[in-house]
Amino acid sequence: VGPLCLLAILLEMTVGYMQGQDKLYRINDTLSSLGAAFLMTITNYLLKFLTLTTEFGIYQWVYEHLAILHLPVNLLWTWLFAFVCIDLGYYWCHRLFHEVNILWATHQVHHSSEDMNFSVSLRQGVLHIQLAWIFYIPFALFIPPTVALVTIQFTNLYQCWIHTEVIRTLGPLEFIICTPSHHRVHHGRNPYCIDKNYGGTLIIWDKIFGTFAEEKEQPVYGITTLVNSWNPIYIQFVHFRLMYTKFCNLSGWYDKLSVIWKGPGWYPGKRRCGIWEDYREISYPVYKYNMRHSLLADIYAVVHYMLIYLAVETIYSENGLSHREVMCVLCYIVLSVISIGAIFEKSSYAPSLECFRCILYLSCDALKSTSVPVLGIGQMLTNPWIIRVIFTISSIIWGLQGIKELCRRKTKN
Ligand SMILES: *[C@@H]1O[C@H](CO)[C@@H](O)[C@H](O)[C@H]1NC(C)=O
Repeated sequence: VGPLCLLAILLEMTVGYMQGQDKLYRINDTLSSLGAAFLMTITNYLLKFLTLTTEFGIYQWVYEHLAILHLPVNLLWTWLFAFVCIDLGYYWCHRLFHEVNILWATHQVHHSSEDMNFSVSLRQGVLHIQLAWIFYIPFALFIPPTVALVTIQFTNLYQCWIHTEVIRTLGPLEFIICTPSHHRVHHGRNPYCIDKNYGGTLIIWDKIFGTFAEEKEQPVYGITTLVNSWNPIYIQFVHFRLMYTKFCNLSGWYDKLSVIWKGPGWYPGKRRCGIWEDYREISYPVYKYNMRHSLLADIYAVVHYMLIYLAVETIYSENGLSHREVMCVLCYIVLSVISIGAIFEKSSYAPSLECFRCILYLSCDALKSTSVPVLGIGQMLTNPWIIRVIFTISSIIWGLQGIKELCRRKTKN
């Protein structure tokens, strides 16, 4: 999926660039989406470590032991039937993740971006995909595992290309399949967009179950409770905090517990998903969360994200790292995405944190021989010196910045 998405992103950037000046990717937004994708390594690894199997293993087990029907894998009808079933499953699963608050807490990550670019499809809640699998398990009663796996993967992959503004509408196709136009509405926070267009590959489910909305005025993207952060960890868990506050503010156990399973827009006395009149109209002009930062900061962040990616790759490549080494690399990934996010947020602690991160890398590097992967990075390039130089220069720059910041705060006091 990685390379394919990357290709799509590059293509979209090119098309966007040709279409006009303001058609650009925002580096801070793109990198926090990518950060979410990096964090996925953690759940993927932990899940494999804990259960020594995948979610798919459970599906397989149910199919082998409980299935009431074994459809032949080599029949075209099986695949078509499975595709329609899985797509219907996707619709309801997706709808649940929007209309049940605790599930929304894992899925809001994906909607937290205020942009609509291919890169947004990389921004996923670390718990979301794992939880979503549970909802497909009933299909194990009659859909063979291989067929289910392929169709689910297809539906997930399909999501990549509908996160875009460069494709306006697709004529008659709009009646049947999910298109970028439909999905833009799904990501909008205008009142007419809320809880609409859940479909995966077919849009017919939304029309059947009454959640369809046509694209009218240009949707304004994001969630109604804007996150306003570039910290990928914060973005992952922010909604749990909102839920906790709501939980504390309500009285009576029934209302308190309703915070968990009713819709995110619910309040006592309201319908389970809140009411239309409560949805806030967009106030124009819209200012996206976007700290002013230099082109240099963008380039710096992109270079370091490429280096973090190498660390992510080592985890997936299963190169015989011990469990403890993997844990170190995972911690390093978390620290890295937080630190780069802090730079984008212009936090006062960003210089010292980033300086610390670079020095940490260099110390790990110094402690180990070069033949051993140093936080997954060293071994990837034939010449680890390039990376050492990058990290040394980086730590000096941020060290100086940190001192400057300290002096500034001293004089202010
Ligand atoms: C990315 O998304 C933003 C906001 O939706 C949009 O303005 C911009 O044109 C998109 N970039 C590309 C290359 O399509």
